[in-house]
Amino acid sequence: MSINASSPHASNPLAAGFNSATALDFPSAFRFGSATAAFQVEGASGEDGRQESIWDAFCKVPGAVFGGHDGSVAADHYHRMPQDVALMADLGLDTYRFSTSWPRIKPGDGKLNPTGLDFYSRLVDELLEHEISPWLTLYHWDLPQALGERGGWANRDTAYRFADYALEVFEHLGDRVSDWTTLNEPWCSSFLSHAGGEHAPGHTAPSEAVAAAHHLLLGHGLATSAMREAAGPGHRLGITLNFTLADPADPDSPADTDAARRIDGSFNRVFLDPVFRGSYPSDVLEDMAQAGLGRHIRDNDMEIIAAPINVLGVNYYNGVMVAGPVDPPIADSELAFASERGLARRSPMVGSERVQEISRGLPRTAMGWEVQPEGLERLLLRLQDQYTGPAGIPMVITENGAAYQDVPDADGFVDDSRDRLAFIDAHLRAVHRAMERGADVRGYLVWSLLDNFEWAFGYSKRFGIVRVDYESQRRIPKASALWYARVAASHQVPA
Ligand code: NOJ
Repeated sequence: MSINASSPHASNPLAAGFNSATALDFPSAFRFGSATAAFQVEGASGEDGRQESIWDAFCKVPGAVFGGHDGSVAADHYHRMPQDVALMADLGLDTYRFSTSWPRIKPGDGKLNPTGLDFYSRLVDELLEHEISPWLTLYHWDLPQALGERGGWANRDTAYRFADYALEVFEHLGDRVSDWTTLNEPWCSSFLSHAGGEHAPGHTAPSEAVAAAHHLLLGHGLATSAMREAAGPGHRLGITLNFTLADPADPDSPADTDAARRIDGSFNRVFLDPVFRGSYPSDVLEDMAQAGLGRHIRDNDMEIIAAPINVLGVNYYNGVMVAGPVDPPIADSELAFASERGLARRSPMVGSERVQEISRGLPRTAMGWEVQPEGLERLLLRLQDQYTGPAGIPMVITENGAAYQDVPDADGFVDDSRDRLAFIDAHLRAVHRAMERGADVRGYLVWSLLDNFEWAFGYSKRFGIVRVDYESQRRIPKASALWYARVAASHQVPA
């Protein structure tokens, strides 16, 4: 493949606040990679003993997923894995973050499915052969439907089932995989799924959402301790959280600062504090008292959840500016909360009566999310200062990227240099600034390697740096991929 790409140069429209006329060097050990997740790319949903996940079931609910799309074929990665690994090697990426599919490895009955596990064993071997480090996420939202039918994450038992599954995968792949993430974005698998209704299982019960949040954290802690016992000094265990940085519209307004506090509590601190400090923040417990968060905490749970980790995975897409309630309340339909990354309307503690999103007039991606790279710099510094720094552990950006309305030319090539490439450039600059100011960040994994199944949006949103032509399943690197290859090769963001 010929690596030949232009840079977004000094006029990067998305790099507000950063001097994009300067080339920036990253340390030689800094990792440049990409990320995907099983349900979003694999397809082959009925093959080799895989059984249904809650997402297969959710896709069948009329109206749940855009266009009635599902994961049965996706990017057909299950069958095209060797070519996809070769593509990453061509791009010079040094790390690949993927997830294992629980319903492929331990379907319904909980017994190990060796054929399902073998796919990941082959994937890991293929990566290592191409000198790409595998980064394995154990849970990226595809819970076996058999467990979903028993209450899913709202059922405490799921946490124990997760730990069993995690240990089993670790025992089989731990000899070749150093980087392990327990959960991806537990906010989505709890609040967005059980209260917001936008993700599987599509429920709208705040009391279920807080139960799910606690049991996900418990599952993380149990799995971490189980893997730790089997781990050696070279293994790095962690969790990936999604962060929403909320700024009050008027910092002098108590209503606006309270709105920002609520968002910070219910998106960020509700997970950060238990993992890093062994307790829920008192304001979060209070905000979620009616939904009953405190009722799920049993003796020793918080110690289990606070099991030491080696790395924090940071997923960052956008921030929000928020204001307090208005009188009379704005109708739901007028609020800009429709997207999955927006403030979950039915979330138990950030109902639309409490918080409204105020547009800052920033450019938005195809998801409707504001582009705010400077927020990533502030987020990393805050995490360093309050959480990872005191714990003495580094961070890795486990996801960052953007969906745009790609327009392929006659050859299928997408010139995304003015949007996706500019987005990645601006966010890498933000990471660099944060590192200069003391944040310990060890890598950046772009979301995503391939266009894929974007959950409730089906295939209508494309996040890939590589285009997938779903008709032919052809992979066509976009301008952003060619540019990113240059970054990875030189460890430099060019001017
Ligand atoms: C978060 C999730 O981890 C990933 O699955 C999703 O596709 C991206 N962000 C974009 O929404």
